[in-house]
Order: sequence, then structure tokens, then C-alpha cells
Amino acid sequence: MLKRILLPVDGSEPCLRAMSFAAELAAELKASILLLHVLDNLPARRQLKDYLTALEKNPALHEAEIESVRSALSESGEDQGMEILADAEQFLRKKGVSEVSTAIRDGDPSTELLRAAETGKYDMIIMGRRGLGGLKGLFMGSVSQKISSLANCAVVTVK
Ligand SMILES: Nc1ncnc2c1ncn2[C@@H]1O[C@H](COP(=O)(O)OP(=O)(O)OP(=O)(O)O)[C@@H](O)[C@H]1O
Ligand SMILES: [Mg+2]
Repeated sequence: MLKRILLPVDGSEPCLRAMSFAAELAAELKASILLLHVLDNLPARRQLKDYLTALEKNPALHEAEIESVRSALSESGEDQGMEILADAEQFLRKKGVSEVSTAIRDGDPSTELLRAAETGKYDMIIMGRRGLGGLKGLFMGSVSQKISSLANCAVVTVK
């Protein structure tokens, strides 16, 4: 039985096509979907956070810079990830999928996705064949390639 679907989302066009495919399948089979986004620019965000902490020790002196570091932080990380997840959830619900949940992780996308797939006992992973990466000549992205070969469940990559 196909009851639990893991859908890794990165906000790309191929990922949107994977969502359409997953939505149709899940609505038909009454399966649940977990949307998972992995924040992969951790070192950059850590640096920004440390910098912000240092600036905040003397807020009066660094007022303008504190603002700009704050906005750089929110653009580079969680806020954007949460927005991708919220949009994806809304999309799936509109398409008639009633059981949708979301999760966000920090780290290397492939590692975190494989970990989630193992611990969550999913029946299938549905994802884009490509993502936000720029190398159009390649047939598959590195994340979809790793998940296809290493995951223990069925993997569908959508073109
Ligand atoms: N950070 C991420 N969090 C969740 N899912 C992701 C993430 N990155 C990629 N994915 C999933 O993997 C699919 C394929 O993306 P992938 O990153 O492998 O291709 P790419 O960006 O074109 O290539 P590369 O990242 O190797 O340059 C995406 O459509 C999405 O479903
Ligand atoms: Mg990518």
C-alpha cells in the first residue's frame, strides 16, 4: 500500500512538477505527504549569526549594519525555507490532499533526506529530477541522483 510519501522541496520548477504528480497520486490513494526542506547554506548563516551577535554588543554604534545583517540572515535561511514549505502545503491542499505536514532541517540535503526517509518509514519519495542548480547539461541533479541510488524505498524523479 502506498500510504506515506516524502516530498523534498527546494522551490524549483522541476520540484513544482513533482508536487503536481504527487498531489494527483496522494489525492487518489488518500496517502499522506511530508514536505521536507533542507537549509544547506549553514556555514554562511552561522557566520552571519556570529557577526550579528558581535554587532549587538554595541547596538547604538552599529544600528544600520545590524538591520542589514538581520535582513541578509532572513533572506538566506529559515524565512525563505518556511515560505517554500507554506506555498507547497497550500498547493497540495488545493489539489485535494488532506494529510500534509511540513518539516525543515539544517545540513546537507542528501544526508538529511536519506535520514528522514529511513526514520519515517516512507513508501515512496517523489522529487524533481533537477532543482535550483545551474548545470543544465546534466541529466540529474546531485541530490536526486544520491537519493535514487541510496534510498531504501521507491523513488520517483519528475522531469
Ligand atoms: N535543499 C533541499 N531541500 C529539499 N529538497 C531538495 C533540496 N535540494 C534539492 N531538493 C530536491 O531534489 C530535487 C533535485 O534537485 P538537485 O539539487 O538534485 O538538482 P540541481 O539543483 O539541479 O543540481 P545540483 O544541486 O546538484 O546543482 C529537487 O527538485 C527537490 O525535489
Ligand atoms: Mg540543487
